[in-house]
Amino acid sequence: MPTLLITGASRGLGLELARQYAHDGWRVIGTVREAPAGRKVVKLGAESLTLDVTDAAQLKQLAARLKGVPIDVLFCNAGISGKRGTALGNFDFAEWERVLRVNLLGAAAVIEALVDNVAASERRIVAVMSSRLASIAESSGMTIPYSTSKAALNLLAKALAANLASRGIIVVALSPGWVKTDMGGQSAPLTPERSVHGLRQVIARLRAEDSGKFLSYDGSILPW
Ligand SMILES: NC(=O)c1ccc[n+]([C@@H]2O[C@H](COP(=O)([O-])OP(=O)(O)OC[C@H]3O[C@@H](n4cnc5c(N)ncnc54)[C@H](OP(=O)(O)O)[C@@H]3O)[C@@H](O)[C@H]2O)c1
Repeated sequence: MPTLLITGASRGLGLELARQYAHDGWRVIGTVREAPAGRKVVKLGAESLTLDVTDAAQLKQLAARLKGVPIDVLFCNAGISGKRGTALGNFDFAEWERVLRVNLLGAAAVIEALVDNVAASERRIVAVMSSRLASIAESSGMTIPYSTSKAALNLLAKALAANLASRGIIVVALSPGWVKTDMGGQSAPLTPERSVHGLRQVIARLRAEDSGKFLSYDGSILPW
């Protein structure tokens, strides 16, 4: 039975990823920040552990608890959009730092803490939840703090793909599309079910040569 560890499993895409993988018979470890959210995860047949990805002490505890447990797919999904409407003239640098701490440094810390677990698994996959808004080629100047955090996350994925190739670990940046969640809002065209179904298909098809790619939930390659 393969194992998925997913951060930010309390709601939205993380909860749906936990649901679909658990339904498929995987061992699913979903991390949440608060205990009540953990109960939602457990109801799906998954395990719940506490983690705020910006909390180094919690991360150390999590790594100690999971020592020796192979993780086939490590999915760094936890993320925040930050305050909306931030643009040149009203940059809020404290808020921007918060977005970077969660979306970029949080993912880097989770991967660093659990990379040996991934290396010990059969599938050896690290996925980071990126966004089309990370694309430098397609940038229209929107959501600068969020977009820069996800563009940097993409570079992290590409760099770690190179660093970890010798250990047989595949690292990819995945875009879920625009999805109806608290972050995506109700105008989004995709349901979490559909986006996650696509993301799972993409993950299932990954081969060594895909490491370092920026892929959409529909399997297409996105421009950096
Ligand atoms: N929805 C979209 O259209 C869309 C598009 C592109 C990319 N994404 C990306 O997909 C991922 C999931 O987004 P979503 O739409 O499911 O958003 P969401 O419904 O707002 O869920 C965000 C998740 O991240 C968790 N989280 C936030 N800060 C955290 C921290 N410091 N430590 C640990 N967990 C934390 C939240 O936990 P709490 O419940 O404790 O706050 C929640 O589980 C994000 O990385 C987002 O950037 C979403």
